[in-house]
Amino acid sequence: MLFSLATLTTGLGFTAAVPFVPELYRRQEPNYPDNGTLVNPPNATNLTRPNPTYTQEQLTQVKLAYTAVERLTLIKSFGNTDDYFKFDLTPDGSHSNAANGLGGQGYLAEVANFPVLMGTGLSVAIGYLNPCGLDSIHIHNRATEIVTLVSGKSLKTGFVLEDGFDLPVYTEIGLYQGTIRPQGSLHWEFNDNCEPAVFVASLSNEDPGVSRTAQNFFINPQDIVDANLAYPSWLDNVNTTDYRAQLPAAFAQGAKACYQRCGITYDTNQAGGITK
Ligand SMILES: *[C@@H]1O[C@H](CO)[C@@H](O)[C@H](O)[C@H]1NC(C)=O
Ligand SMILES: *[C@@H]1O[C@H](CO)[C@@H](O)[C@H](O)[C@H]1NC(C)=O
Ligand SMILES: *[C@@H]1O[C@H](CO)[C@@H](O)[C@H](O)[C@H]1NC(C)=O
Ligand SMILES: *[C@@H]1O[C@H](CO)[C@@H](O)[C@H](O)[C@H]1NC(C)=O
Repeated sequence: MLFSLATLTTGLGFTAAVPFVPELYRRQEPNYPDNGTLVNPPNATNLTRPNPTYTQEQLTQVKLAYTAVERLTLIKSFGNTDDYFKFDLTPDGSHSNAANGLGGQGYLAEVANFPVLMGTGLSVAIGYLNPCGLDSIHIHNRATEIVTLVSGKSLKTGFVLEDGFDLPVYTEIGLYQGTIRPQGSLHWEFNDNCEPAVFVASLSNEDPGVSRTAQNFFINPQDIVDANLAYPSWLDNVNTTDYRAQLPAAFAQGAKACYQRCGITYDTNQAGGITK
């Protein structure tokens, strides 16, 4: 799952506490479309309501609470338990906090937007993949993840862990089946079907982090990128900085063969993984 910490922290009004390099911040912020790209988005129900926002003061108090009892008492004092003890992972159709791309959207509840998670070692996301949608290759810096398919037909998945265990592990999960993505592994999920798929991602850290592999590889200096790849001829006339600007935002479109089979258009201009 991709989420922009910068976006979240801005929304929560505690930017001052989070140092960042403005240039990097701009480059890393996904360029979300104004409206969503989600096929068959979930409908609002009479329990749907916006998630609350928190002041910096509230977040600081939650962080400083010494025991779970203090923390929960404090959070309960913020207001309605249906706001502060509940998190709505429904994408609002136009903007999700964890992924917005031509392949679908993702919503993540983690400690910065759901502070009751503080100290729990847990976060959770829901991924809404369009037909042929791909949760592009990424790692979670601080969490192991279990991906469970809760709607749709199937999900193809893969991960590659580390030296000594560096052959990919592939699984194809069916409805209500889950699979593991070990902490730090490069992994992906692909909905190779003509219908949408929804998966729940359980994460073993309240601040799981995400690093998109292609984006964070190609952001490095041209000669370093070239050298990492042994100066391949296919990069001879390629400016890798410019190339990076063409990377798709998560969730990306998946394999072209799927689009062909399903009779839907693969949009060649899906740049948006970064702000140009
Ligand atoms: C989404 O936004 C784009 C550009 O802002 C617009 O061209 C398009 O019609 C919009 N689509 C929907 C479904 O509103
Ligand atoms: C939302 O409601 C519409 C109209 O009833 C329905 O066609 C659609 O399938 C619903 N979406 C989901 C995800 O259930
Ligand atoms: C919400 O809708 C369901 C039916 O969809 C109904 O049974 C329930 O009473 C409603 N709750 C409220 C608070 O309106
Ligand atoms: C690549 O293009 C960017 C402008 O898009 C430029 O700033 C940079 O110097 C170029 N890199 C190389 C190695 O030519």
